[in-house]
Amino acid sequence: MSQTTRAFPSDFVWGAATAAYQVEGAATEDGRGESIWDRFSATPGKVVNGHTGAVACDTYHRYAEDIGLMRSLGIGAFRLSVAWPRILPEGRGRVNQAGLDFYDRLVDDLLANGLDPYVTLYHWDLPQVLEDRGGWPARETVEAFTEYTEVVVSRLGDRVRHWITQNEPWVASWLGYGLGVHAPGRKSDSDALAAGHHILVAHGRAAEVLRREAPASEVGIAIDLVPMYPFSDNEADVEAAHREDGFRNRWFLEPVLGRGYPEDMLERYAEILPTIEDGDMDTIAAPLDFLGINYYTRSVVRAGVGEVPAEGAEHTEMGWEVYPDGLYRLLVHLQTEYEPPELYITENGAAFADARENGRVPDSKRVSYLEGHLDAVEAAFAGGVPVRGYFLWSLLDNFEWAFGYSRRFGIVYVDFETLERVPKDSFTWYRDFIATQRAGRT
Ligand code: FCB
Repeated sequence: MSQTTRAFPSDFVWGAATAAYQVEGAATEDGRGESIWDRFSATPGKVVNGHTGAVACDTYHRYAEDIGLMRSLGIGAFRLSVAWPRILPEGRGRVNQAGLDFYDRLVDDLLANGLDPYVTLYHWDLPQVLEDRGGWPARETVEAFTEYTEVVVSRLGDRVRHWITQNEPWVASWLGYGLGVHAPGRKSDSDALAAGHHILVAHGRAAEVLRREAPASEVGIAIDLVPMYPFSDNEADVEAAHREDGFRNRWFLEPVLGRGYPEDMLERYAEILPTIEDGDMDTIAAPLDFLGINYYTRSVVRAGVGEVPAEGAEHTEMGWEVYPDGLYRLLVHLQTEYEPPELYITENGAAFADARENGRVPDSKRVSYLEGHLDAVEAAFAGGVPVRGYFLWSLLDNFEWAFGYSRRFGIVYVDFETLERVPKDSFTWYRDFIATQRAGRT
């Protein structure tokens, strides 16, 4: 996109995103309880190089510096998550005021600096005690999440205007409980389905709490969507891609948008479905103010093989194909098929092997990635898709889950020895891009 004119409206929300466990550190401070990611990352062999989030970016202590970075970036919104084990170290019951105080200060400081907080309630750091009682596959966790939401909202709901109940239900349920590559590392399809169902019910229950306790706020969910492209026009490839789409996307998207679980997948999962209680589907379909989309890549699917690499394409350090057109088509598809009230890109970004060179961090591949994807958002917006904002993942290099610190997604480089922050070239690029959008022209 040329930077000579403004493509987005002046109230378009420009932001950056992080999540508690990935940036905060201070894992045992001020009464924080253990989370499933503390336990999982401390288990040998689970995370690359044995890395843990114990220190991470130390944002818990350095958030003033990070807010300074956000100010110089010129964003108007910051997506963060609340660490459940800081608030309720035992999962339920006793509230840890010191944990709430931290987010209280953070929210106040963000607002004082002109940054609108978009708060995610669950970005994967379940209290370990709740996992010990069954975790997300257990119905009790829905009750616990509802109580936790009440506690957080009663403290922050007077100032936080945008809430994201759950982050990426597919990843939380399938990577955590089905494939075992994320915390808590369980490997059972039926547990993954039960976890996914409870995460969705928990989303709906949290939405109810938010409507009641903070009626002025806007409520959404962040769903990870990976558009599935058939390898060829062959019926078998088309069918395989549709099935994969059901597994990865439709299973979560459709119930949240009021359509219930997709019939083809209900049939496929018939033997291992969790108990769906009366009223659950209505709860899951709680009205939303916005749908958040986390988009990184697409997937090409071949019958009998599964995902196949796209020939000749560029890939990020995660091995994910760089495919901006997938975002454009996804946005148009969502609008045509489901007409959500509003959409946000709640995450989009890329990992590359960045390095410091004479005080700079040249990351031209990330700049191209962002250019391509913002072009896609612009085209969708121009075509009438109600996209209201864009959150870049991520402000900082951080703890990238099972990859530890070996994958850098930040537009700010973090030296994990010294915790020094060094804005990358992409930071400057995003800053100039936002300034151009605000000014209307260069
Ligand atoms: C998403 C997660 C986020 C980050 C990015 C790279 O799946 O929501 O925390 O790890 O991927």
